Amino acid sequence: MPSETPTTIKLEDYQPPAYRIETANLNVLLDPTATLVIAELKVVRQPDTKPGAPLILDGDNLKLLSIAVDGAPLQSNAYDVTPSALELTPPTGDTFTLTITTELNPDANTQLMGLYRSSGTYCTQCEADGFRRITYFPDRPDVLSVYTVRLEAPRDACPVLLSNGNLIKTGLVPDTDRHFAIWHDPHPKPAYLFALVAGDLAKITDNFTTASGNPVELNIFVEHGKEALCDWAMDSLKRSMRWDEEAFGREYDLDVFNIVAVSDFNMGAMENKGLNIFNDKYVLADPETATDQDYANIEAVIAHEYFHNWTGNRITCRDWFQLCLKEGLTVFRDQEFSADMRSRPVKRIADVKLLKMHQFPEDAGPLAHPVRPRSYQEINNFYTATIYEKGAEVVRMLQTLLGEDGFRSGLDLYFDRHDGEATTIEAFLKCFEDATGSDLDQFALWYEQAGTPLVSVNTAHNPKDNSFKLTLSQEIPPLPGQQSAKAAVIPLRFGLLGPDGQDLEITTGDSTKVTGDVILLKRPAQTITFQNVPDAPKVSLLRGFSAPVRLTQDQSADDLAFLAKHDSDPYNRWQAVQTLATQTLLARTEAVRRKVAFASAADLVAVLQTVLEDDRLDPALKAQALTLPSETDTAQDIGNNVDPDAIHTARTRLIAEIADELQPLLLPLARDYAKDSAFSPDAASAGKRALSNRALHYHAHSSNPGAVALVNDRFENANNMTDRIMALTLLVHHGFEGAMDALQAFRSRHATSALAMDKWFAARATAPRDETLQVVQDLIADPLYEPSNPNRVRAVLHSFATGNPTQFSRADGKGFNLIAESVLQIDKRNPQVASRLLTSFRSWRALEGRRSSLAESALLRVSSSEELSRDCRDIVDRTLQ
Ligand code: PHE
Ligand code: ZN
Repeated sequence: MPSETPTTIKLEDYQPPAYRIETANLNVLLDPTATLVIAELKVVRQPDTKPGAPLILDGDNLKLLSIAVDGAPLQSNAYDVTPSALELTPPTGDTFTLTITTELNPDANTQLMGLYRSSGTYCTQCEADGFRRITYFPDRPDVLSVYTVRLEAPRDACPVLLSNGNLIKTGLVPDTDRHFAIWHDPHPKPAYLFALVAGDLAKITDNFTTASGNPVELNIFVEHGKEALCDWAMDSLKRSMRWDEEAFGREYDLDVFNIVAVSDFNMGAMENKGLNIFNDKYVLADPETATDQDYANIEAVIAHEYFHNWTGNRITCRDWFQLCLKEGLTVFRDQEFSADMRSRPVKRIADVKLLKMHQFPEDAGPLAHPVRPRSYQEINNFYTATIYEKGAEVVRMLQTLLGEDGFRSGLDLYFDRHDGEATTIEAFLKCFEDATGSDLDQFALWYEQAGTPLVSVNTAHNPKDNSFKLTLSQEIPPLPGQQSAKAAVIPLRFGLLGPDGQDLEITTGDSTKVTGDVILLKRPAQTITFQNVPDAPKVSLLRGFSAPVRLTQDQSADDLAFLAKHDSDPYNRWQAVQTLATQTLLARTEAVRRKVAFASAADLVAVLQTVLEDDRLDPALKAQALTLPSETDTAQDIGNNVDPDAIHTARTRLIAEIADELQPLLLPLARDYAKDSAFSPDAASAGKRALSNRALHYHAHSSNPGAVALVNDRFENANNMTDRIMALTLLVHHGFEGAMDALQAFRSRHATSALAMDKWFAARATAPRDETLQVVQDLIADPLYEPSNPNRVRAVLHSFATGNPTQFSRADGKGFNLIAESVLQIDKRNPQVASRLLTSFRSWRALEGRRSSLAESALLRVSSSEELSRDCRDIVDRTLQ
């Protein structure tokens, strides 16, 4: 496949479709290498389309067997086929029927887009533009059709036949070994939500009754033998369905809701109407193979896909520029769900950490783009942290600005007004304006501008008149293609703390700038004067991380210690600890580079001690507070001329120092894990494990000679995966005595669970050790590694490229070369997985000179390949720009 010439698709070029497809009747005769798809499409010419105007259908890699219009076969001179389209001159009437037969080879489909097989099971993935790999069709989200799908396959090989909607008929095909099923989905939907599954699968079944009393059958389909791993997913599904009724008044709308878990899947999961298809990583769990994080992820992803039924399916996107319309909103909804199921502050902290870890670097580098991009070359490269996570933050700000009731009334109006439509961000915002009477013009900039705003803070207290002035300013640093940005509206939740640590009563007399506990920063700079403030207060800004911005504020260690102890906002208590830790890490990284002595970490140690001793804090929060900013976070804070080795050295030594200083508090926590008590995945139990494992992590860095034995002991006696993989990771990363035996023991125990082995792969690939480069090469050759499985690729190569900064960015360039080579290999088979891996280079310019030029050479090597996919071409061009 030679490189395609990239074409740029622009938002401003949007045109409504010339023809719509009212109904799509598909007859799919399944076969591993020669599946037939007979599509009968009722085509409707749109009022603005001239009779006889050309009809252009999308296609990709299709073998066209026949085409007929109103039953009359077309001769091959009556239409035009190119690699990406089928064009014909249709009849001049308002409607006509097109019958198209295509032949597909599911076994040859290594891209995992369109119809493919995963461990023998037929399945589909159509978002964003995979339906065109099944049949010729206007494959765009604003063409909504009612689908009826007949599936036919051998009974033995494929006892299970599934598609969207409700099952209306099954039967045997006379005189054959085949059977069929007919599914009908009454809800018009875009092609990207089409799905089918066929295979020999086991299922677990449950049911749900909607608030209106409609019974719904719930099924989760998995490979035989994995039924026992589905209980948590089913439980999460039922809780999601109930929660969406209670929190947003949204009920389910079909007789059945099916989930299928497959092992080969490019992304996390897919919200196909009534037939969600999941990466099995987000379905399967038991204490033996899943960590607490896995349980939380499954709960969140099950909820996310279910919530799409309203935000994505009932109301979908007009075009792919509006992707955040469904993704940002649905992430917001799943975050709220998890917050209600678990601890709200802990969930908020976890979400913000993720945002800062993945989205902030994206937004500060060459791949930065607005939450609603204006152009793209390959839409599959826009399923990004910016669209998803920043998109969710934008929705959260809307809630902060309008208040919970205002937000809810806007959302109700949105569901009401746009149900059944493919719509836009403008239409979404209009609902909130109409419902609340507010003006969201300036707010809309959050969708238009890339980059993370930087908010600077200055304060002045005047004891003469008891006033306190807070001056705030904002700027978005320049980015490629965006030299200057306009001031955004930034809601800053805040509090002023008096000397006793209590929040002061706020009096400003200026309600345009402050409403309740929210400051509205709307201009490049603005000053707020507070009255009745006798003592200089401590300022707690950006409570709950009320806006996706970076804050620069002069805060002394004393101020931060004070906030860490007293702030009434748990998020900001955590943030105060983090800020202090960041200051310490930055100073020490600089000391490592300049080869000078470290400043004392006494302030940080004292704060961590207060946290550990605070009985009001729940263990999960303590675990979060004790986790220092990551090496990637620190690199991000340094910004340029980054030396990953210096960061690693500084951070590791800081952890060791804290471990020694706080040993009396940490050691009992590390030891105290209830190995005999039964495992439960609930948030409170998970929090206790998290704290104990965090303590064990410190202990492993300490100078205590008993550390090695304790970590080995934890590994051997763990009764759940969270504890076992933590101990294994520590053994491997520290090169402790016993590491090799533990690796072997883990492998023997889990060799038949690919998902468990992924953790083993990741533990090895992330070891910050010189030999890891060779280890990763060995892992790729391991018989348990499957180069065609995206989860394996992520476990080994992604983990290395994104979770091992010192080794990926080795000073000899070998880490970069390994990933560049891998990208080229994988690209031949699966461009989406390859281009995702390639994004790990996105911060290359921030590295110190030698490393950044080595990274550039590796990128240039990728770029010079003549057979690059459009996916990788797009990423490499933008990364090098
Ligand atoms: N729409 C899916 C989700 O967020 C993600 C996805 C995108 C899956 C593209 C597959 C392909 O839930
Ligand atoms: Zn989604």
